[in-house]
Amino acid sequence: MRVTMIGAGYVGLVSGACFADFGHDVCCVDKDPAKIDALNRGEIPIFEPGLSDLVAKNVRDARLSFTTSLHEAVKDAEAVFIAVGTPSRRGDGHADLSYVYQAARDIAASLSGYTVIVTKSTVPVGTGDEVERIIREARPEAEFAVVSNPEFLREGAAIADFKRPDRIVIGTEDERASNVMTEIYRPLYLNSSPLLVTSRRTAELTKYAANAFLATKITFINEIADLCEQVGANVQDVARGIGLDNRIGGKFLHAGPGYGGSCFPKDTLALIKTAQDFEAPTRIIETVAAVNDQRKRAMGRKVITACGGSVRGKTIAVLGLTFKPNTDDMRDAPSLDIITTLQDAGASVRAYDPEGMHVAKPMLPEVDYARDAYDCARGADALVIVTEWDAFRALDLGRLHNALAHPVVVDLRNIYRPDEMRRRGFTYVSVGRP
Ligand SMILES: NC(=O)c1ccc[n+]([C@@H]2O[C@H](COP(=O)([O-])OP(=O)(O)OC[C@H]3O[C@@H](n4cnc5c(N)ncnc54)[C@H](O)[C@@H]3O)[C@@H](O)[C@H]2O)c1
Repeated sequence: MRVTMIGAGYVGLVSGACFADFGHDVCCVDKDPAKIDALNRGEIPIFEPGLSDLVAKNVRDARLSFTTSLHEAVKDAEAVFIAVGTPSRRGDGHADLSYVYQAARDIAASLSGYTVIVTKSTVPVGTGDEVERIIREARPEAEFAVVSNPEFLREGAAIADFKRPDRIVIGTEDERASNVMTEIYRPLYLNSSPLLVTSRRTAELTKYAANAFLATKITFINEIADLCEQVGANVQDVARGIGLDNRIGGKFLHAGPGYGGSCFPKDTLALIKTAQDFEAPTRIIETVAAVNDQRKRAMGRKVITACGGSVRGKTIAVLGLTFKPNTDDMRDAPSLDIITTLQDAGASVRAYDPEGMHVAKPMLPEVDYARDAYDCARGADALVIVTEWDAFRALDLGRLHNALAHPVVVDLRNIYRPDEMRRRGFTYVSVGRP
């Protein structure tokens, strides 16, 4: 099938490359000429494991191309996916739909022949109706359908998630559009990924409900971790004890510094706003968002406490800046709040991240950036592990001890064992563990 992907970011580029790998003829469009130039030179503008090879292979086989010309890419397409950003709208937390609506207007101007327009961006309930209205108004005679197909991939494991999804959700009541979507995803459901066809509004809401539920699980275990610290229990054992119950499940029960990233913070907020507008407020999610918001600075204070109550004039080493490992995505990363809290309290911060430093630098200009974990620890008064990159899981503890001026380690991801760290001479603080 001839597929066009509008937006060549984390979702659009991965989805486009994977569709091409299934055998479809895919063109990715982005309005950012620097991004398209880089892709046409064979450079991948983001860090996502395996993406570079997948893109190169499909470009070589002439199934994947890149352009800034939306018109060229849309006019012959059978399906046009919208995968542009839907960040929080400044000021009120609603999803900013201006990029989606602009894409809809641009598509309308270039449509020819029956085309399925698919919203892959995460959008509030009713956005599909508005996209349809925009296109219909501009092109009353055009033959098209607007479908919702939310994306559930995780950065860092995006290709595997896209190629082996737990489910594919397709929101449409139009049989012709449903057939086109089924054809596009055929390679996947032959591999037995369940394909759920729902109403368009149901599909839109399913994405937000999924993210809100996962954010709730994380926030729940974080609060249990705080309680563990007060009563002398171990949150990892509690998480295992509840997670082995199939009704609960063990995933997303890792206590830590609070959720961040390009999806959970903005999507919980957008769902709260939609629910309020429809007079069906989601009190649980409102609480989750508020608790998580406060947690990030609280983690900064945890570091200050571990340093004896003051970090003024001290140097704090921070390992990991991205919101999770295996991505360079810094959007709403907990490191931003934690580092700002430490700087507000008078600390100098030195940081190292394997892939995120070029993105972090403009966001955290006052930070000193290190070459590696040991360079980061050099002469520091404490070391904080914020992101659990594999490279930080088996550090040479003797070397680390020697590098630090004071052997204080605050492990916000619980990747080291408290007994071993203490035996090695560290003052060790983790999350929800004695
Ligand atoms: N990042 C994730 O892990 C993830 C996972 C699931 C769903 N989503 C959702 O997918 C959507 C995209 O997220 P992302 O992380 O890929 O965003 P992104 O910012 O990485 O990519 C969006 C791209 O769209 C381009 N763009 C914007 N308007 C355009 C237009 N009119 N024409 C052409 N290109 C245009 C931008 O230049 C940018 O390159 C969001 O709604 C997000 O919530 C993201």
